[in-house]
Amino acid sequence: MSKAAAQAASLRAQIARHDHRYYVLDEPEIADAEYDRLMQELRALEAAHPELVTSDSPTQRVSGAAAAAFAPVAHAVPMLSLDNAFSETDVADFDRRVRERLPGSAGTEAQGASVEYCAEPKLDGLAVSLRYHRGQLAQAATRGDGMTGEDVTANVRTIRSIPLRLQGRAPELLEVRGEVYMPLAGFRRLNETAAAAGEKLFVNPRNAAAGALRQLDARVSARRPLAAFFYSVGAWQGAPEAASQQQLLAQLASFGLRVNPETRVVNGVAGCLEYYRALLARRDRLPYQIDGVVYKVNRRAEQLQLGQVSRAPRWAVAHKFPADEAMTVLRDVDFQVGRTGVLTPVARLEPVMVGGASVSNATLHNMDEIERKDVRRGDTVIIRRAGDVIPELVRVLVERRPASARRIKLPAKCPVCGSPVLRAEGEAAARCSGGFVCAAQRKEALLHFASRRALDIEGLGDKLIEQLVDQAMVATPADLYTLKIEKLAGLERMGEKSAANVLAALERSKHTTLPRFLHALGIRDVGEATAAALARHFGTLAALQRASAEQILEVPDVGPVIAAHVQAFFAARANQRVIERLLAAGFSWPESQARPATALPLAGLTVVLTGSLSAMTREAASAALQELGARLSSSVSKRTSYVIAGSEAGSKLTRARELGVTVLDEAGLGSLLRGERPGRPTA
Ligand code: IVH
Repeated sequence: MSKAAAQAASLRAQIARHDHRYYVLDEPEIADAEYDRLMQELRALEAAHPELVTSDSPTQRVSGAAAAAFAPVAHAVPMLSLDNAFSETDVADFDRRVRERLPGSAGTEAQGASVEYCAEPKLDGLAVSLRYHRGQLAQAATRGDGMTGEDVTANVRTIRSIPLRLQGRAPELLEVRGEVYMPLAGFRRLNETAAAAGEKLFVNPRNAAAGALRQLDARVSARRPLAAFFYSVGAWQGAPEAASQQQLLAQLASFGLRVNPETRVVNGVAGCLEYYRALLARRDRLPYQIDGVVYKVNRRAEQLQLGQVSRAPRWAVAHKFPADEAMTVLRDVDFQVGRTGVLTPVARLEPVMVGGASVSNATLHNMDEIERKDVRRGDTVIIRRAGDVIPELVRVLVERRPASARRIKLPAKCPVCGSPVLRAEGEAAARCSGGFVCAAQRKEALLHFASRRALDIEGLGDKLIEQLVDQAMVATPADLYTLKIEKLAGLERMGEKSAANVLAALERSKHTTLPRFLHALGIRDVGEATAAALARHFGTLAALQRASAEQILEVPDVGPVIAAHVQAFFAARANQRVIERLLAAGFSWPESQARPATALPLAGLTVVLTGSLSAMTREAASAALQELGARLSSSVSKRTSYVIAGSEAGSKLTRARELGVTVLDEAGLGSLLRGERPGRPTA
């Protein structure tokens, strides 16, 4: 083996080990950055030696091309389903049937006749069957009708808790079965992103997981947070058969496959029901959704004696949790304001029991969702609760709508602060325009105000802001400049010294620049670049404050949405008051004359910075270049005027050379900053 091959193999083994610790055992051993470094190293090695890439390399989880359709897969051993039990009596009946069929343990009153069961959570996901040939993941299929499923190998390979290669002495063939699901945290994140983008939301984690698994483009599945637990085997060659379900799970775990840690061996009906009640009580605290528990006769010999009927084994039953849907009446809809100002409609319901808990609120996500579901005040609705996910309103029973039902309107004013509510064209989210005036958004706005790229107020972090706002010492940034050392020093984790440091940092922050000041105000969609463009165009704060939305639209790179936000911000009386107080506190910056961007020395140039610079930071370089009128871009194209390459420049430099874009070194950057245009006619 060459040195590179040995190194690649070692990196792969290390990464597989850390994947197992992180995704399967939930016991990471190294920091994320260290893991990223190993991946980086392996990628670089494989890029340099493409012949060393193997299909079980962690770099090969996501395949490039989208498939046209899923190929059918015939299951070598059919994938069974389970009979359901809905009550304790159903479970007792199941257990009686089991005992009647097991010679030796028959007879209800016989001493010690109780059957040993393996009790497991019943995951609400999708059953899959994976084939490992000599330890390598060869094929993954959905359950389908139990006889034939669909080939979802490319998608399953993207699931990080599923090993591409088994650990230890792998059998010749292992067909392992389990459940692919979406963890609740990932589900919430996915829906938050979808809600913010105005996209359709997933109804529940199961549907989201099903959608992800059935993506024809594995690159899309790779971005959906899926996980898996394994609980049974189909075909299997070259390994001793486990004597019990419990042993089987231990065997699967020894191969590096993820098994559910909630599994327990219990005795008889009493043991089963005790397990059921305990898990039902903890259902909401599990990080995934379950719809019941499964009891399996533990001993393999007994399972074989019992056999199966049609499509379900006689030795197992699914004990379902109470239904998680219920019908109730929607009394009203309130709007909650989040820390970024987004208004979320919340349904206030006639309290109803759903999935074992009383529910009186349900989320409606946004106005689009209300319109799509045609929800009205007074409607009779179906509510669904899934794990600890906020209950959802599934649909309206239109046939029960009373004549008094009223449509729901977006409030014109923020329910928290009274500032106008804005909803940009084509956007699902409606937002309060109050910024730091709005109590709901205060902490976030203050944190932004003090952040490094805004006013860079050292020592004013989230813990301090939390206390200042909670104790009503600060509501807006202007209040920061009225803080007294005694009160500040008395706060938790503070003292004379740190209080004095914060006050000094506040004092320093008053000497700033107009772009930083504008950025710090936290006007919606106004980042550093837009703040700089506004400052450059208007020259003074007063001129910008007076400007109409049309005038703001004349600023390069500012569109109608941003122009409207900027205009609305300065028009709000509360914001005007904060600015007046900041100026009175002594804020100042070098006033410059408004210069139209086209008159600047580097106007019209697009510059890409790559690699690391020695004389200044990349941030400082981009700020200086923008100040001179250049546009900064993060990717190289034919329209790029210059690529400035520091040391260790990578793919962007390569791309620039391919496209024939002028590449400058740090000396070249120096000439640009003097307003020269190396190698180009002056504009
Ligand atoms: S055992 C004989 N165990 O429930 C083996 N199934 O209603 C049959 N399921 O198709 C499956 N968690 O998708 C088993 N711990 C668990 C399960 C489980 C969820 C699903 C599985 C199956 C369905 C049957």
